[in-house]
Amino acid sequence: MCGIVGYVGHRDAPSFLLEGLHRLEYRGYDSAGMATLEDGVFSLRKKTGRVLELGGLLKTDPLKGTMGSGHTRWATHGQVTDINCHPHLGGDGEVVLAHNGVIENYTKLKAKLVALGYKFITETDTEVVAHLLAHHYRDQKKLTPENGPKENATLALEHTILMLKGTYGLAIMFRDLPETLFVARQGSPLVIGVGDKEFFVASDQTPFRGYTNDVVYLSDREIAIIEPSGFEIIHRDTGVTAPSITTLQNVSEDSDLGDYPHYMLKEIFEQPISIENALRGRLDEDEATAVFGGLNLTAQQLRRIDRIVLTACGTSWHAALVGEYLLEEFARIPTEVEYASELRYRNPPMSDTTMVFAITQSGETADTLAAMRECKRKGHPTLAICNTVGSTIAREADGGIYLHAGPEIGVASTKAFTSQVTVLIELALFLGRMRHLSYPAGRRLIRQLKDMPNKVRQTLECHDKVKQIAEKYAGFNNFLYLGRLYNFPVALEGALKLKEISYVHAEGYPAAEMKHGPIALVDEKTPSVFVVPQGGIYPKIISNLEEIKARGGPVIAIACHGDEQIAKLADDVIFVPEVEEYMQPIVTSVPLQLLSYHIALLRGCNVDRPRNLAKSVTVE
Ligand code: G6P
Repeated sequence: MCGIVGYVGHRDAPSFLLEGLHRLEYRGYDSAGMATLEDGVFSLRKKTGRVLELGGLLKTDPLKGTMGSGHTRWATHGQVTDINCHPHLGGDGEVVLAHNGVIENYTKLKAKLVALGYKFITETDTEVVAHLLAHHYRDQKKLTPENGPKENATLALEHTILMLKGTYGLAIMFRDLPETLFVARQGSPLVIGVGDKEFFVASDQTPFRGYTNDVVYLSDREIAIIEPSGFEIIHRDTGVTAPSITTLQNVSEDSDLGDYPHYMLKEIFEQPISIENALRGRLDEDEATAVFGGLNLTAQQLRRIDRIVLTACGTSWHAALVGEYLLEEFARIPTEVEYASELRYRNPPMSDTTMVFAITQSGETADTLAAMRECKRKGHPTLAICNTVGSTIAREADGGIYLHAGPEIGVASTKAFTSQVTVLIELALFLGRMRHLSYPAGRRLIRQLKDMPNKVRQTLECHDKVKQIAEKYAGFNNFLYLGRLYNFPVALEGALKLKEISYVHAEGYPAAEMKHGPIALVDEKTPSVFVVPQGGIYPKIISNLEEIKARGGPVIAIACHGDEQIAKLADDVIFVPEVEEYMQPIVTSVPLQLLSYHIALLRGCNVDRPRNLAKSVTVE
């Protein structure tokens, strides 16, 4: 949700900034902007639309400089207009800054600044920070004229952030300091890339690929003062802090499209590999259990756990629902799933033997982070199931499990979901084997898990069939998605995928619940997508399906190969391989991802950059 880049060093800053903005575009893509300092004056370029548009503008009207900042926006305050694009100038151009986050007290601050004579030209909350900083800088110059500009700018920044309520990642330049880039962080991620007499700044490490593997993750309440010769980090409470440099292992991870037309399709097809990566090195056949390297809890602590809370947002929340069924079935531990946005403000009774898992692809979702911190504050062991190495949640959790799914760029999450479910099966196996799960049952689970990449490979063979079905249904404007037990979260996820990328209304429901309301929606213009693979309650779902057919609703079924009954009942069927019920979400979610992808394409939607959405939601 908004991406920031910055650079100070010896190379052409605009080239790095533009490339970095392209890589961060998944965080927000309604407009983009850039600023550099040329001959003692800030030059800015801003453009609504994609980073590509900004690139076009820079071709006709280039920027120069060896220091600069850039921003790709997901609008929170103020319309999507050129003028509201970041970076924003403060004072009479003494400072310029790019911001990710939300300044909650901006109205009050703005009123004060207006009274002091500052002129606002944008509708953003960010411009308040720019003017406030310029104001403090002017004050500081009067108060401590003996200081150099760097000392006064640092003091001004420290004063400014003390007055801000809300969240921010800031990249700041001062007109008086042509070689000093300032960054500050509270609640929104910021990473510094360490080069040779040059430094890079970004909301995550993806822009650093090809430039440096050495990074410093800024923590909340920290500011950094960065110059080509070196940098310094100051923590608001503890003062100057020794930076901890992490060397990234996989910065060359492939985030290019290859031969695929869209990231979403590429990521759907990567699932056999991403699932394999989630399993690699984690299955211990001798002990019939799973092994995790980073839980950071002793066997004794793990055995004491008598309740689990899974917290997440969006697709990760759907994976958590599958996790609840798995953990209760295999580990027999009472498990609850909480929307992170609710949990962060609720105060549910939780004993000190409750373990909390934050499930997140990005590791930066603001609500999930806040919920996790709240649980940590109360003393619960708080772990993360996360894809992004080095993300805030991964770093702040007491321990955790990485998905190793590789970068997920498409805004609609696909491979992260199946990897999350895979990891949750492994977790259920691991905790189950510490309790009641038998050795043979553990061995059986491992065998089935090892076969999952193959099963997903076979599932992907349904692609052409899904395409045909999408053509038939692309013009419909309402869909129901129905499933039961392990496939109820899959129904929710299928409906979310369709909503997200094709802007078609879709509701996910437990199949049997549809007669308590949603069935009223059923008519010949409302298709129902039934997730109905073989399992213990197959006949019950068939009855639910018959109820829809009896009311004239078209039915698309996701069923197991060889299911002849369904072929007679449903209007269209997508066949998937048969797997155990608790593994089904990994295969049944795949055709639903493909269905939403093709419907979105046929409706002319931008599948990788759906309107109004962002990949990483770092505001509340
Ligand atoms: C955003 C994304 C969703 C994602 C959700 C949670 O809304 O658009 O695709 O599921 O955030 O993200 P996380 O990174 O925490 O899994």
